[in-house]
Amino acid sequence: MKRLKLAILISGRGSNMEALLKAAAAPDYPAKPVLVLSNRPDAAGLETALEAGVPALAIDHKPYGKDREAFERAMDAALSEAGTEIIALAGFMRVLTPRFVEKWQGRMINIHPSLLPKYKGLDTHQRALDAGDAEAGATVHWVSPGVDDGEIIQQASLPILPGDTPDSLAARLLPVEHRLYPEALAKACAVVSART
Ligand code: GAR
Repeated sequence: MKRLKLAILISGRGSNMEALLKAAAAPDYPAKPVLVLSNRPDAAGLETALEAGVPALAIDHKPYGKDREAFERAMDAALSEAGTEIIALAGFMRVLTPRFVEKWQGRMINIHPSLLPKYKGLDTHQRALDAGDAEAGATVHWVSPGVDDGEIIQQASLPILPGDTPDSLAARLLPVEHRLYPEALAKACAVVSART
């Protein structure tokens, strides 16, 4: 079985990244982490990755100002240098330009905290609560140029309980995300490997 070289992009805590690293510690998991990349130098997940023995790098987007393409060229160079074959966005909070997305299309996936196509973008839990939804959830999808718009790989849901707040919902959803993402990444790897 081929193990695809995996890069994980984060911006903060990195708990989904950690779930992927744990899954990928199994020798028969179809992805092998080669790089964790953060656009924020203070992302807690960078330390977690280093402790797990995975190369971790921050490329701060701030010095690039409005020049998103220059920032992405720097990321792209690091991704290529690591031999990246598949990218998992895990709480990566920068919108990517169509140029970057098109380059990695079919090889880049994302986890989003809603049952897409509902609630693309931010404040997903508040919006689910405001709408009176009976359930919330998370979606892993292929990344396409539209925000949170690509083909769905896998979803997981949970009931919204009386008295739920955005915070309580996010906290209950997190372990669900941690089970979902490794499974969905394995499916994505199968698709990429079958193509090459
Ligand atoms: C997760 O809940 C993830 O679904 C969400 O950010 C959190 C990151 O947590 N992603 C997005 O909102 C993407 N638009 P983590 O850093 O602990 O994995």
